[in-house]
Amino acid sequence: MTTDLRALLHRAADLAATYREALPGDTPVHPGAKLPDLVAALGGQLPQQPTDPAEVIELLADAAGPALVGTEGPRFLGFVMGGSLDAALAADVLTSGWGQVAFNAVTSPAAAAVEQVAGGWVLDLLGLPAGATVGFTTGGQGANNVCLAAARNHVLAGAGWNVEADGLAGAPRVRVVAGEERHATVDRGLRLLGFGSAVVEPVAADANGAMDPADLARVLAAGPAGAPTIVCAQAGNVNTGACDPMHAVCDAAAEHGAWVHLDGAFGLWAAAAPATAALVAGAERADSWAVDAHKWLNVPYDTGLAICAHPDAHRAAMGFTAAYLTGHGEAGTPPAPSDLVPESSRRARGFPVWAALRQLGRSGVADLVQRCCSHARRFAEGLQAGGVTISNDVVLNVVLADLGGDEPAERTVAAVQQDGTCWLGATTWQGRRLLRAAFSNATTTEADVDRCVDAVLRARG
Ligand SMILES: Cc1ncc(COP(=O)(O)O)c(C=O)c1O
Repeated sequence: MTTDLRALLHRAADLAATYREALPGDTPVHPGAKLPDLVAALGGQLPQQPTDPAEVIELLADAAGPALVGTEGPRFLGFVMGGSLDAALAADVLTSGWGQVAFNAVTSPAAAAVEQVAGGWVLDLLGLPAGATVGFTTGGQGANNVCLAAARNHVLAGAGWNVEADGLAGAPRVRVVAGEERHATVDRGLRLLGFGSAVVEPVAADANGAMDPADLARVLAAGPAGAPTIVCAQAGNVNTGACDPMHAVCDAAAEHGAWVHLDGAFGLWAAAAPATAALVAGAERADSWAVDAHKWLNVPYDTGLAICAHPDAHRAAMGFTAAYLTGHGEAGTPPAPSDLVPESSRRARGFPVWAALRQLGRSGVADLVQRCCSHARRFAEGLQAGGVTISNDVVLNVVLADLGGDEPAERTVAAVQQDGTCWLGATTWQGRRLLRAAFSNATTTEADVDRCVDAVLRARG
């Protein structure tokens, strides 16, 4: 079977472009497709014989295309999804075309170099130490896992224990102190690392979900002096956008020699914009940082960044080598891309991150962050003007709206989803079901925000 590869790639690009051009328009943001119908459309027995690649792509587009969720469009306000900047998307296509394996500088010098450069740009933009190591993970969860593994290595080494060699059985007990409003992925990371989620000593939060530093000091002081300790802080509460007060958190942690990990999956991008940087002041004093590229930076899924101020701990927790791995693991060499993440072979995630940063530049990243925050405020004000109570202090890009009770919240969210103008979900905050919206897509306009406000007010009835 011969294929006209160029024509095939052009066809795939056309399909993708046509899909994306329609996103700002009137097609429902969520198609409401039923899983069994999709499985049937895609399924059946695996054919015995090969199929022409051009036909394969048409079959895929016909079956999956009508069921795609408009997460890349301007009015998807659920979770914190982001979109894809044009250069990042095109670079992602190239990444597949080039098929580079970002293991080390032998498997792909280009992939290794681009991660070094893009990682450095991120450190610069976020005001983090220039010597920090940056691992390109699958996302925020992956970054939390890697950073907590580096933390585990470091605090146990400080207690005279080599966790990489000897594991946790018999190790000194590690204290993990974390805000009660931490993201659930921190708990999953603690489970995966053998700490268990019950290890967490919770710290109280203020009304908007930011850690109370006085309570952090109290919790830290309550434990045994000199115990190996990790403090997990957060920039960007997923329900409210609140950011923990990092100077106070780092002051308290320093008194106990604790490692500070900052989960800033989306919120740490606040550091890149003058209007929001004060929210995360002091973030640079942490020991490790988890941040996503696929959310607020608008890089296609999937990419997160595990950043660590202690390169030796980072590499000790993640690195490995073997005799056949040419050009890898020699003493004295800088860490390779695979020394900083749990994967061995993996996609060259640096290309789209580099392209996103190169497209936006410093001012473009700041504009993107500020624009999303101003969309959140506009959305909140629009709802307030329609008589809806806003339940959070809209400090960043997330809005919580009170529709008057749990049942009206669920009913309104379902009606908004049915209406299709936008998509958002409900959450529980301080015991109440609320409507939740997050703004993180670079293509959202003020007109989109106004359409979303109208959709919610219509749905409320
Ligand atoms: C604060 C926080 N941490 C971690 C994550 C997990 O990120 P990811 O979905 O990229 O794994 C999220 C996701 O929204 C988040 O908001």
